Amino acid sequence: MGFPTSSKRTYAFVSLLAASSFLMPTSCLPSPHEPAHLNLAPKRSAQNETIHPYQNASLCIDARVEDLLSRMTLEEKAGQLFHTQLQQGPNGTLDAGNVTARRNSTENMVSEKLMTHFNLVGEVQDVGVVAAWYNRVQELALSTRLGIPVTLSSDPRHSFTDNIGTGFSANAFSQWPESLGLAALRDPELVQRFAEIAREEYMAIGVRSALHPQIDLSTEPRWARIGNTMGEDAELTSKLVVAYLKGFQGEELGRHSVTTVTKHFPGAGPMENGEDSHFVYGKNQTYPGNNFEHHLIPFRAAIAAGARQMMPYYSRPIGTEYDEVGFSFNKQIITDLLRNELGFTGIVVSDWGLITDTVIRGQDMPARAWGVESLSKLERAQRVLDAGVDQFGGEQRPELVVELVRAGKVSEERIDQSVRLLLREKFVLGLFEEPFVDVEAAQRVVGNAYFTRLGFDAQRRAFTLLKNEDGVLPLSVDDTAVRFYTEGFNTTLLTSRGMTVVDTPEEADVALMRLQAPYEPRPGGFESAYHAGSLEYNATEKARQAAIYAAVPTVVDMYLDRPAAIPEIAEAAVALMGSYGASPEAFLDVVFGVDGASPEGKLPFDLPRSMAAVEASKEDVPFDTENPVFRFGDGEKYAEKC
Ligand SMILES: *[C@@H]1O[C@H](CO)[C@@H](O)[C@H](O)[C@H]1NC(C)=O
Ligand SMILES: *[C@@H]1O[C@H](CO)[C@@H](O)[C@H](O)[C@H]1NC(C)=O
Ligand SMILES: *[C@@H]1O[C@H](CO)[C@@H](O)[C@H](O)[C@H]1NC(C)=O
Ligand SMILES: *[C@@H]1O[C@H](CO)[C@@H](O)[C@H](O)[C@H]1NC(C)=O
Ligand SMILES: *[C@@H]1O[C@H](CO)[C@@H](O)[C@H](O)[C@H]1NC(C)=O
Ligand SMILES: *[C@@H]1O[C@H](CO)[C@@H](O)[C@H](O)[C@H]1NC(C)=O
Ligand SMILES: *[C@@H]1O[C@H](CO)[C@@H](O)[C@H](O)[C@H]1NC(C)=O
Ligand SMILES: *[C@@H]1O[C@H](CO)[C@@H](O)[C@H](O)[C@H]1NC(C)=O
Repeated sequence: MGFPTSSKRTYAFVSLLAASSFLMPTSCLPSPHEPAHLNLAPKRSAQNETIHPYQNASLCIDARVEDLLSRMTLEEKAGQLFHTQLQQGPNGTLDAGNVTARRNSTENMVSEKLMTHFNLVGEVQDVGVVAAWYNRVQELALSTRLGIPVTLSSDPRHSFTDNIGTGFSANAFSQWPESLGLAALRDPELVQRFAEIAREEYMAIGVRSALHPQIDLSTEPRWARIGNTMGEDAELTSKLVVAYLKGFQGEELGRHSVTTVTKHFPGAGPMENGEDSHFVYGKNQTYPGNNFEHHLIPFRAAIAAGARQMMPYYSRPIGTEYDEVGFSFNKQIITDLLRNELGFTGIVVSDWGLITDTVIRGQDMPARAWGVESLSKLERAQRVLDAGVDQFGGEQRPELVVELVRAGKVSEERIDQSVRLLLREKFVLGLFEEPFVDVEAAQRVVGNAYFTRLGFDAQRRAFTLLKNEDGVLPLSVDDTAVRFYTEGFNTTLLTSRGMTVVDTPEEADVALMRLQAPYEPRPGGFESAYHAGSLEYNATEKARQAAIYAAVPTVVDMYLDRPAAIPEIAEAAVALMGSYGASPEAFLDVVFGVDGASPEGKLPFDLPRSMAAVEASKEDVPFDTENPVFRFGDGEKYAEKC
């Protein structure tokens, strides 16, 4: 297939900061100035060279939106209101679907259901294959009656987390610490730089919508989704989200932007007992400290900074002035609070799967219709629309919307209101003018050496040094007689640096341990990816570790995807670091101070003393566990060398 390549688009890395030069006047957004030969979107019949106004790049975007809307059937409008997972077929082909897995084909969703919003699931290993696949998806979309291009979105893909429900590990992309690690560095410029690089890599393969940032405040330490937040502090999160949005969107959304979905309104931190509302047992959000307003602080900052889209969480609020139904079913939350009180004018997209029961990784997942479980699917859809939500995430049920309008339960004007916002985003992103990506350029851009080096550098810097007895770190590499006991990483990396590795702590001079923060494994193909439950190690594990600390001076690095309660390690290890997604190479560089590597991170949350302290604290209140072992902001530096 001869996909046109816009070879004139150069990816000079020095132009990273140039997003702001894509500034456009807002009143009448000019239409993109692409040369006619690249104006590929409209399918025109050979004998009729006249184009519709919506296809005419010289017209204002508002006029183009209205023209397109006026040509759309109800079914075509309904299709816009759905945004769901899209898989790749083998070798960059379109996915043919799978009856057993109850998965519809791409052809079905694009050509029959008339959907144009999808989130990319699955890994990005071969960039050329994914870019070519994306072009095939666009070609299919452009072959529909009106030729509305697809908007492809993605969960985070630049770090280490791998959970089909929340994020993918970086694979081909440059690899950075989780957003918690960026928060540990407290540097808005770095956050913006990260976001600009992520934007370039996303755009290269056609991803134009980020299903992030996640700015929930981690006020409940047990919650399994803290790893992708910016920590416990409202002010820090507010400061960083501004830089994050600027990096992805530019000063103003335009043709060189990735639009962002800020989540999860109105702040998903206060989960009852720290459970997660993907699951039936975690549907409640709770405010024993009467601290609802506090969780809005970062959302206010995001709205002021031009957040384009917003995702409410699954949870339902308990014991507040609001109805006890999931936030996307909740008119007081979406219309009264988010739109009217906070002044948000963008797109509201629900979290995935509120209407239809489904199966994820072999696990039955009931629709997350919390508080409205007894409603029919049609009634649920109506309730979401009535609440003021524009788009259903993780659903492909346009027929429900058609039925609601035909039955007079929802007005077509209401549907138009959301379709307008959704179409407008596509025009502003320039998707009608430039729906395809350049496959070769994508291969050059994604994961290039420069981006990768910056990501690696951020991994190293984000390490947070919590204890360093007698300045033991950085370890000297001079003495090759030192024998190491290790856990949690590939020892080849040590031996290839000329070091000696032994099998037991007793034989060793130093132990290097990389530990995962404690959690209690949950069953189920999907649920098992959520690190929930106790923040303490169990007695067996504590005893096992204690024997090591007693036998040999031990350096511990803990992956803090949750705020671990580990006073015993703070006591017994000679050195303790926290990290938030860092390769073993980054870890060893920091341990040995290679090339000046040193930890610069500051804790993005308190580390509690015990599970009892966590249980006694309030879900919605920050920094309220009793006598925490380490505090937000803790983090030492290596002693200055001469
Ligand atoms: C050509 O396109 C114009 C613009 O939409 C339309 O008004 C006209 O009817 C079309 N003519 C033919 C012959 O299809
Ligand atoms: C696009 O719109 C402009 C401004 O109205 C008009 O002059 C031009 O002829 C249109 N282009 C086409 C191809 O219809
Ligand atoms: C994958 O697709 C490319 C081009 O689309 C083709 O050249 C190649 O042979 C295919 N590989 C396999 C294994 O099918
Ligand atoms: C695909 O969607 C259609 C509706 O368009 C539905 O009838 C069918 O059962 C779906 N197939 C699969 C495999 O999910
Ligand atoms: C279809 O899905 C089922 C269940 O997930 C899986 O076992 C099977 O391998 C899939 N078939 C194909 C052709 O991928
Ligand atoms: C949620 O809150 C309601 C109302 O207080 C309560 O009845 C229910 O047990 C709580 N937990 C779950 C999982 O629903
Ligand atoms: C450790 O790394 C080496 C070299 O990169 C590799 O060959 C080996 O398979 C790795 N071992 C494990 C257990 O991952
Ligand atoms: C204790 O924790 C360890 C490591 O986290 C785990 O492998 C083990 O299964 C746990 N034991 C019990 C009894 O829960």
